[in-house]
Amino acid sequence: MQTSTIQKLIFLLVNNDNEFLSGQKLSAELGVSRTAVWKHIEELRKEGYDIEAVARKGYKLLSIPDAITAKEILNNLSTNIFGKDIFFYQVVTSTQKIATEMAMSGAAEGTVIVAEEQTEGRGRLQRKWHTPSGNSVAMSIIIRPRILLSSTPHFTLLVAVSIVKAIKDISTLNPKIKWPNDILINGKKSVGILTELNAEADQINFLIVGIGINVNQVIDDLPKEIQNIATSLAIEDGKKFRRAELIRSILTNLEYFYEKYIKEGFTSIKDIWEKESCTIGENIIAKTSLETIEGRAVGITNDGILLLEDKEGNIHNIISGDIFIDTK
Ligand code: BTN
Repeated sequence: MQTSTIQKLIFLLVNNDNEFLSGQKLSAELGVSRTAVWKHIEELRKEGYDIEAVARKGYKLLSIPDAITAKEILNNLSTNIFGKDIFFYQVVTSTQKIATEMAMSGAAEGTVIVAEEQTEGRGRLQRKWHTPSGNSVAMSIIIRPRILLSSTPHFTLLVAVSIVKAIKDISTLNPKIKWPNDILINGKKSVGILTELNAEADQINFLIVGIGINVNQVIDDLPKEIQNIATSLAIEDGKKFRRAELIRSILTNLEYFYEKYIKEGFTSIKDIWEKESCTIGENIIAKTSLETIEGRAVGITNDGILLLEDKEGNIHNIISGDIFIDTK
């Protein structure tokens, strides 16, 4: 991955944030003039970096903004596929829409579209997805897997496993997966995943995986009507998160599980999914577009389909829909 001067500068400042770095040292490390160093420092300050400058001592980083620009995400990211190209937008209709357009024009696998705010964010089953500016993550990732069309459901599950691991890596939280696409923390939803497919005959052209995360909201930031069923990482962990770090963690874990999936197949992902799920073993109500069935979730198939056993012992395949964990 090509690293720009400004990314190298951020890296040096972040990794030496308890000392001053002289203009001379930075200019030697970056291979640019001291005036260019100063210009880059000014550029970073405009983006919200608090950098102290002291004559004859140099520059010291005091704080960094919670930005999710490409530059911020790329700092310390060591993936080969996911995040190779990152496009950041302040406001978009939906990152899914932008990602689809880019994929149609040939954007590479692993391209990430991330936005601070969405005006027409969408969820599963034609629902709306609310992305307020400053405290959430909304991103879409282009994937071009060479797999059968029937294996598409694997991806929502693979992404869910990656996000659970990513959240665990940066927090003390214990997220759980609610089939097929929700991630709950202490029983409340904080992440939604939307997988959209573009295919011809039996050939997948691309998948767009959309991820929406409530990260730093406090309870009053969430719409009143969902406060009893939704949450954020910050509400549950009692501290704020750096969103760029969360995104990096997701891209890193996604690459790990994607490569595992390509090498070892879905079974390796299925086992982890079942362990991280709060659905398997529970009594649930499944609402599909055709019917409502009650029973116990007994597992998922090798195609990623949920298996529900009703009172009579009949097994039902739940391909899509909503499930409700029955607490009575
Ligand atoms: C759901 O739980 O129904 C899925 C929500 C998915 C939301 C994300 S936010 C980024 C991407 N852009 C969208 O418009 N939707 C997805």
